[in-house]
Amino acid sequence: MASSHFYLSLSLLFLAAVCTFHHQQVYAEEQVLKFKLDADILQESIVRHVNEHPQAGWKATMNPRFSNYSVSQFKYLLGVKQTPEKDLKSTPVLSHPKSLKLPKSFDAREAWPQCISIGTILDQGHCGSCWAFGAVESLSDRFCIHFDMNITLSVNDLLACCGFMCGDGCDGGYPISAWRYFVRHGVVTEQCDPYFDTTGCSHPGCEPAYPTPRCVRHCVDKNQIWRKTKHYGVSAYRVKRDPNDIMAEVYKNGPVEVSFTVYEDFAHYKSGVYKHITGDVMGGHAVKLIGWGTTDDGEDYWLLANQWNRGWGDDGYFKIRRGTNECGIEEDVVAGLPSTKNIAREAAI
Ligand SMILES: *[C@@H]1O[C@H](CO)[C@@H](O)[C@H](O)[C@H]1NC(C)=O
Ligand SMILES: *[C@@H]1O[C@H](CO)[C@@H](O)[C@H](O)[C@H]1NC(C)=O
Repeated sequence: MASSHFYLSLSLLFLAAVCTFHHQQVYAEEQVLKFKLDADILQESIVRHVNEHPQAGWKATMNPRFSNYSVSQFKYLLGVKQTPEKDLKSTPVLSHPKSLKLPKSFDAREAWPQCISIGTILDQGHCGSCWAFGAVESLSDRFCIHFDMNITLSVNDLLACCGFMCGDGCDGGYPISAWRYFVRHGVVTEQCDPYFDTTGCSHPGCEPAYPTPRCVRHCVDKNQIWRKTKHYGVSAYRVKRDPNDIMAEVYKNGPVEVSFTVYEDFAHYKSGVYKHITGDVMGGHAVKLIGWGTTDDGEDYWLLANQWNRGWGDDGYFKIRRGTNECGIEEDVVAGLPSTKNIAREAAI
């Protein structure tokens, strides 16, 4: 009895694992697994291929951020899990009136120059925590935009304390669940619970051991109280997969979290407007979208902040083609609005 139950659970687990991925992705990943997980992610042949491609529209380079990364280490950073169907269905989808007049180009850093978090580039280290970074960074920006306060919220709180509701910590998670965590549990400040620490290899930036940090629920500074540094969201929603709705959302409410499919060539991005040219699927990644524009050549793009430090891409930022759902960039946009809860109390004191 016990053993048949064990095998049933095991096969259910296996099914669950398989079902969380797109079919196309499963196929591509099997191919990758076979022959090159140990190879370097950066390849001169890819740099040449892109830079000699007449229609690429972007430049490739051997980005120093990944100079010692293998394919499997790189894949590990791409920590977006496919959101379960029932969670997708129960999430409100926001759209904006078509009448809203939008500028031809927009950069949140220039629209809200008083908010330093918008222009800060972070580093997720060796942990598949992109799903948490995209969410926490966008929420920090939104606190500044809506309530005129500089604040840096804690990725570590979300990563360590959300548990299986958000997925699997450094092994990947669900972007929309991060925003729900902000509504239900709030998120403390980075000062209270920092992502990187100074006490050896116990933080998710570490190599080669990069476990999901433990949920501690105490600020590192004994004078700060965990509960009191919590900042809450009032809503968690998806944005309609229409470029106009995405632009209107960023214009009105601030940066959003987006997920997209990463191919090998993306690791080599240096500048210009990215579109997939060559290489296999590596996984799903989440980042922060902060604006849009059109190049002199008339190519529409989105402007995004990655969290692979400034040694990757265009000083940490990248552009990707807009209006064609390039790599799925327009179909998984999530966000939420910040709450005055706790903040009102700070002001009252
Ligand atoms: C890559 O690894 C080599 C040898 O292990 C080391 O000397 C070098 O500093 C590393 N480069 C980076 C950018 O980490
Ligand atoms: C945030 O900090 C910067 C630099 O200290 C400052 O110039 C800016 O006014 C601050 N913004 C707000 C909203 O307080």
